[in-house]
Amino acid sequence: MSENNSLDRRKFMISSAAGVAAYALPGVAEPRPQEGKKVVYGIVGAGNRGRNTHLRIATKYLPEVQVAAICDITKANLDQALAMAPGAKGYDDYHKMIESEKGIDAIVVAVPNFLHAEVTVAALNAGKHVLVEKPMATHLADADRMMEAATRNHRVLQVGLQSRYGTVYEKMIQLIKEGVIGDLEYIVGNLYRGDWNPHSWKYKDPKTGAETNWRFLTYCAGSALLEDGIHELDVIHWVAGVEPSKIQATGGNNVLKDRQTIDNAGLLIDFSNGVRCIFSYTVYSPGVPDNRALRLLGTKGEMTWGIGTAEELRGTGNSEIVVIPYRGKEQKVVVPRLTPEEQASWHEVAGGVSTDVESFREHKAFLASVVKGAPVFADGQVGKDAAHISLAAERSLRTGHVFPWSEESTI
Ligand SMILES: NC(=O)c1ccc[n+]([C@@H]2O[C@H](COP(=O)([O-])OP(=O)(O)OC[C@H]3O[C@@H](n4cnc5c(N)ncnc54)[C@H](O)[C@@H]3O)[C@@H](O)[C@H]2O)c1
Repeated sequence: MSENNSLDRRKFMISSAAGVAAYALPGVAEPRPQEGKKVVYGIVGAGNRGRNTHLRIATKYLPEVQVAAICDITKANLDQALAMAPGAKGYDDYHKMIESEKGIDAIVVAVPNFLHAEVTVAALNAGKHVLVEKPMATHLADADRMMEAATRNHRVLQVGLQSRYGTVYEKMIQLIKEGVIGDLEYIVGNLYRGDWNPHSWKYKDPKTGAETNWRFLTYCAGSALLEDGIHELDVIHWVAGVEPSKIQATGGNNVLKDRQTIDNAGLLIDFSNGVRCIFSYTVYSPGVPDNRALRLLGTKGEMTWGIGTAEELRGTGNSEIVVIPYRGKEQKVVVPRLTPEEQASWHEVAGGVSTDVESFREHKAFLASVVKGAPVFADGQVGKDAAHISLAAERSLRTGHVFPWSEESTI
C-alpha cells in the first residue's frame, strides 16, 4: 500500500445509523411537527413497495404516524391502499395531493425510479419532509436538485437505503474498527436474485404505445444496478469508508433478453484508500441459497456474512458473521436482528427470519429527524453516491470505459 493510501487509511471514518451521521444534515427542519403529535404522512406510489412496506409499516407499527393521503394513478392499487388506511384520502395526481393536503408533514415517495426527482422536489418545495425510495434518482444532476431543494426549504431528505439501518453491517464495521481483521484490503460482495416482479407497473412508451414492465426499461429504471444491487453497493461504500477512485464493469443480457435492462454484471471498484472490491450480480437466480453475501479480507484475517445460509437454515432469526483470523481460531459472532423491544412487537417473519425490520427502523430514523432534528444517516449524499456507483458501472459495462469517480459530470 502506498504512503498516500496509508494517509487515507488514517482518515478512515466510519459512521453508524445509531451514532454519528456520515454527512451533514441539509438544513434544520423547521417548523417541526410538535413532539407528541402524530406526524402526518402522504404516500405517493401505492404499488408493491408503497403499499406492502411503507403503508403497512406506517399503519401497523407506527402509532406516532397518521396516513392522511395516498396517491396512485393505478386505481386498483390506490383502492387496496385506501382499504388499509381508514380515513386517508385518495388522489390520482400528486400535485393535487400536495396542494390540497396542507396538514401533511412528510411524503413517502415510492413511484418508479424516473419519477423520484420530480415528486421529491415538488414535495420539498411545498415544505414537506421526504423519504424517497432508492435509487434516489436516475441522473446525478437530479440528485443534486433534490439535495438543493431540501437545503433551501430546510426539510429532511432521506433515501430508502434501509440496509444502513440493519444490525449486521454495523457489526461488521465495528469489528473492522476493533481491528479483528487488521486493515481492510479487499471486499467481495454479491447479489444473486430472481427476475423482477412481473406485477410491476407498466409504462406506456409514448413512442411505441407498448405497455412494458418499468423495470425492463432504461428510461424508467435508470439501470438494473440502480434498481437492485444498489443496497449492496451502498453498504460496500459504507464499509470501505471513503470514496471510490474508479469503477469498471462487465455485464449484459445472457438469459433475460426481452428487455433493455441487463441481467448480470461484474464490477471492479477501487477505493481512494487502496481498498479494492469485486461485486457480482445476476437477476436470473431464483431461490439460490447464497443470494447475498459480503466477505471482507484484511491484513490479519477475514470475515464473512451471507443471507440464505446459516441464519435462514437454522431459523434463529439472528445473523452470524464468521471471523477467520489468518493465525488463530475461527470465531462466530451472532448478531441479533431485533432489539428486545422489537422482539416483542415485530411480527413480520418468513422462514424463521424477521423481515423488513430495517425498513421499520428507517421510518423510526426519519421520524426522529422530522420531529427532533436528528441527523439523517441515509441522506441525499449517501443516496447520490450509491446512484453514482451504480450508474458508473452501468456506463462502464456498456462502453468498456473505466470511470474515474471524478467523471461525475458525464454520468
Ligand atoms: N428499498 C427497497 O428495498 C425497495 C424494494 C422494492 C422497491 N423499491 C423501490 O420502490 C419504488 C416502487 O417500486 P414498486 O416495487 O412499488 O413498483 P410497482 O410497480 O409495484 O409500483 C409503482 C406504483 O407507482 C404508481 N405510479 C406510477 N406513476 C405514478 C404517478 N405519476 N403518480 C402516482 N403513482 C404512480 C403505479 O401505478 C404503481 O402502483 C421503486 O423506486 C423501487 O426501486 C425499493
